[in-house]
Order: sequence, then structure tokens, then C-alpha cells
Amino acid sequence: MVAQQQPGDLRHARTGIELRPGLDGVPATQSSICDIDGDQGLLTYRGYPMQDLAANSSFLETAYLLIWGELPSSDQLADFEHAVQMHRRVSFRVRDMMKCFPASGHPMDALQSSAASLGLFYSRRAIDDPQYIYDAVVRLIAKIPTMVAAFQLIRKGQDPIQPRDDLAYSANFLYMLTEREPDPLAARIFDCCLMLHAEHSLNASTFSARVTASTLTDPYAVVASAVGTLAGPLHGGANEDVLAMLEEVGSAGNAGAYLDEAMQAKRKVMGFGHREYKVKDPRAVILQALVEEMFDRFGHDDLYDVARAIEREAESRLGPKGIYPNVDFYSGLVYRKLGIPRDLFTPVFAIARVAGWLAHWREQLGANRIFRPSQIYSGSEPRSWMPIEQRVTSPAA
Ligand code: ACO
Repeated sequence: MVAQQQPGDLRHARTGIELRPGLDGVPATQSSICDIDGDQGLLTYRGYPMQDLAANSSFLETAYLLIWGELPSSDQLADFEHAVQMHRRVSFRVRDMMKCFPASGHPMDALQSSAASLGLFYSRRAIDDPQYIYDAVVRLIAKIPTMVAAFQLIRKGQDPIQPRDDLAYSANFLYMLTEREPDPLAARIFDCCLMLHAEHSLNASTFSARVTASTLTDPYAVVASAVGTLAGPLHGGANEDVLAMLEEVGSAGNAGAYLDEAMQAKRKVMGFGHREYKVKDPRAVILQALVEEMFDRFGHDDLYDVARAIEREAESRLGPKGIYPNVDFYSGLVYRKLGIPRDLFTPVFAIARVAGWLAHWREQLGANRIFRPSQIYSGSEPRSWMPIEQRVTSPAA
């Protein structure tokens, strides 16, 4: 059981600054990458509404926009897409390392380790060289999907398959994962999911990325620390739990009783609630439309009826507290229909979010000061060393 820190009137003795658990509402940086209006349900990347990007852009174009601040010209986009395509392969050494990972391990742990290992191969740490920055961006965006797909095949006892140069970014990932060339609509919907997950201001993993970046370490360490943070069930890991919850509920008729029981037990409903949004997450609105498009084309999934019933029943129970579906509520249903295994949902989130992490890495380097917050000490007063034979077993041990 994890105890939740409560807001109180604790103040720092020297500065008088109030403790805000989880830094709720505390600005920790200035950023021009993404803006959220949590009351109106608006999300913009570099000023462009998410809805426009989802309808018109591609993941790689959106990544370019996030990282370099402006939409690319056609030459810039072609160069970027070509560079990413050229760097999709990963060294046989990384693949061999992944073969030593336990097949039962979580793919997020495999991704964190393999992302960190890239630092061994490209270790110049020349973070004031624009070419190094461009190359690192390209490598990370190109290689992370390859590593996610490679671990999936390796844990099934197969050799990873090589990227296909004739396939665009998202289609190639689905091909490397499922060993089948995807339907163009499935690839387009997946690409749209990546855009929706690419960035979301100073969430936990992005904050991790910026803290790590502020030490001026290499971008592979920045991404690896962010992957570790994204893995938790209160963050990127929630989309796995949503599907487990939908299965547990089982049918639309059980939704109300499930919610009542969860609320009575003070259990969080997965895929609901967001620190920033007090209305339905705009990404959940777009995702829901994608879910319906997928089911129209590729066949219905009964779990969608369960999800809609939960959303309906939650309106009167959680809505008054400003708790509505977040991005994770519908994303799992899309991924399930695409044939993506459940424990790869969060690695897929990481494939997308690497764009936001890298945008924040660049921004952090542009105006860096190492993060070093303070704390309010609540431990014991200074005390004398106690020889081991005089100690009693403490309750915590
Ligand atoms: N189900 C039920 N009640 C909830 C939920 C939920 N999903 N989320 C928040 N609440 C309630 C809390 O119980 C609390 O109620 P109280 O004031 O009566 O005690 C109140 O709303 C505030 O909740 P906090 O946990 O303090 O809100 P916080 O802003 O810290 O947490 C978070 C946000 C972590 C996303 C939370 O809503 C949650 O745990 N949701 C479920 C997990 C989830 O879906 N995570 C994915 C988030 S999106 C993403 O990371 C991509």
C-alpha cells in the first residue's frame, strides 16, 4: 500500500515556501512546447491544436515540430524522414544484449536498458554541437521502435526482423512487430496515436527527462530515465491496467456496480483522472473516434461497450470531482485491435513520447540550470552513534 502525501501547511524553515506534494501547481520551468487548457480540454503543440495535427500531420512531422519549434518545409521533412529511415537498424551488439534479457521481463525494462545502452555506442556527449543533437534525435526516434519490436520477437524465441525501407515509420513498426505489412488504415490510425501521445508538457516522465538533461548528461541517459518514469501505473502504465479492468467488469451491465465498489474501496478507476484536465481529455475524444473507425473497418470489440458503459456511469459518480477519461482509457482498445500485446502498450507510448522528451531536452539545454529543489526535513534530531550490541530491532526492519 502506497501512502499518499497530503497537502498541509508545512513550510520550508528558511524560505517559508509551502510544501506542495507532487509539486501540484508549482511551475518548475518555462516552456514553449505544449500548452494545456485543462478547463476547456484544449491541447496545442507549438500553438497548433491537437485536432488539426491529428487530422493533417504525421508522427514524424509532429516530432519535427515539437523538437525544432516549427513545421518543416517539404525538403526539411524529407531529409528528416530519410535520416530516420537510415538509422532504424540497431547494432547486433544491442540485439545480442537483448537476447540475454529474461523473456519474462517487462518490455519497459528491456526498453530502458537498451535505450541507455545506446549511450555506449554514441558516447561523445557533445551537447553543444548542433550536428550531435540532430544525430541523437534521429537515432533515438529511429531506433526505439526497432528495439521494442526486437524484444517482442526475441522473447518469443525468434530473431528480430530488419526494418523495411519501403515502409513509412508507423507501418514499419507494425511490420517489425507483427511480421505482417499492416493495412494502410491501421498504420494511419497507429501514426495518429503516436501524435496524440508525443507530448504533454511537464508530466512525470518529461520532468524526469528535464532533471536528467539539466545535469548535461547524454540524451540516451535522458531518454532512459524518462522511460523508467513512464513505466509506472500512475503514468504510462495505466493503459495496460485499463484493459484488465474492462475484462474484470466483463459486461456493460456491471459497470455501475464496479464503480460503486471501487469508490467505496477508495480504488482509482484506471484511465480516469488527470492532474491538468477537469474535463474529458481531448486526446481521449480523438482516440474514441479512432476506436470507432477501427471497429467499423476491422470488426467490433465487446470491451468497447464495457468502456462506454463505464464512462456513462462514471459521469454522475466522478464527473462532479472533475474526473473524466484520460488518454489511456481508449488507447488500449486501439492497440488491442492492432494486435499489439498488452505489455507493449507502454513501450508504444514511449515510442511516441520520445519526441516530447527530446524537445524538452533541447529546450533545457537552451536555458539550463541544474534542478535541485529543497526539502522539509522530518527525521530525527542529531543523535549519538549506537554500538550494534546495544541496538534493538526497529519496527521498520
Ligand atoms: N478514480 C477515482 N478517483 C480518482 C481518480 C480515479 N481515476 N483519480 C483521482 N481520483 C480522486 C482521488 O481519489 C482524490 O479524491 P479525494 O480528494 O476524495 O481524496 C481526488 O480525485 C484527487 O486525486 P489525486 O490522486 O490527488 O489526483 P492527482 O492529480 O494527484 O492524480 C492521476 C492524477 C495520477 C492521473 C490520478 O487521476 C490517477 O491515479 N488516475 C488513474 C491512473 C491513470 O489513469 N493514469 C494515467 C494518467 S494519464 C497519463 O499519465 C498519460
